[in-house]
Amino acid sequence: MKLTVFKNEEELDLAAASSVVEVIKANPEATLGLATGQTPVGLYQKLVQAYQNGQVLFKQVTTYNIDEYAGLAKDHPQSFYYFMKTHLFSKVDLTEENIHIPDGVAPDLEAEAECYESLLQKARQLDVQILSIGLNGHIGFNEPGHTLHAETHVLTLTEDTREVNSQAFSSLADVPKKAITMGLGSMMKAKKIVFIAKGDAKAAILKQAFKGPIDPLVPASLLQLHPNIEVYLDEKAAKYLM
Ligand code: PGA
Repeated sequence: MKLTVFKNEEELDLAAASSVVEVIKANPEATLGLATGQTPVGLYQKLVQAYQNGQVLFKQVTTYNIDEYAGLAKDHPQSFYYFMKTHLFSKVDLTEENIHIPDGVAPDLEAEAECYESLLQKARQLDVQILSIGLNGHIGFNEPGHTLHAETHVLTLTEDTREVNSQAFSSLADVPKKAITMGLGSMMKAKKIVFIAKGDAKAAILKQAFKGPIDPLVPASLLQLHPNIEVYLDEKAAKYLM
């Protein structure tokens, strides 16, 4: 694990984005695994800037998002597709056919999960996977539990996650109860993981994830086994790791 701690959020975002840009420069047809949430917003801004400055093109890049809420269509402002469109897809030259994200309103969610998994299996090994962590240690929507899933699956969100994520909705009742998430298998198979976390609130779970035992109750702890993970933290998030 290559851990870098930053004083300044802007520098953190730039360093993490540069690591992704390097991958695309080396292989213009790179495959990227993408995460949503507040944490990677700055990284996406830096990717957009790199595109606008002519440092990188996304024309031949293929993306696979790690999760989506069940029941939210692409045009729902709280869907992860909408998030991605706002922060990245509409701002770079990615082509629509190269963008992949589970369909939260598929009539059969289990079949959608299987279909998404076969796309990932065809992609074989993502060149870079962007990840952050939930307050409860989840990665994507791989929630803490007694078992971890390797493959894309439909899951019931924990009440902790619904509550944290309710900030983006008008009320807790509006937060979907289910979601589809990539399993830990595809994430762990990626050639490189760019992991970012920011802020005090994540410090304790980061200590458990990176210094504690590998434990399905802390899904992110599995990342300790990845041979090429870059961890980008601010000082607050890193306070128990330095
Ligand atoms: P956040 O979400 O970046 O908004 O903290 C991360 C997550 O829940 O995985």
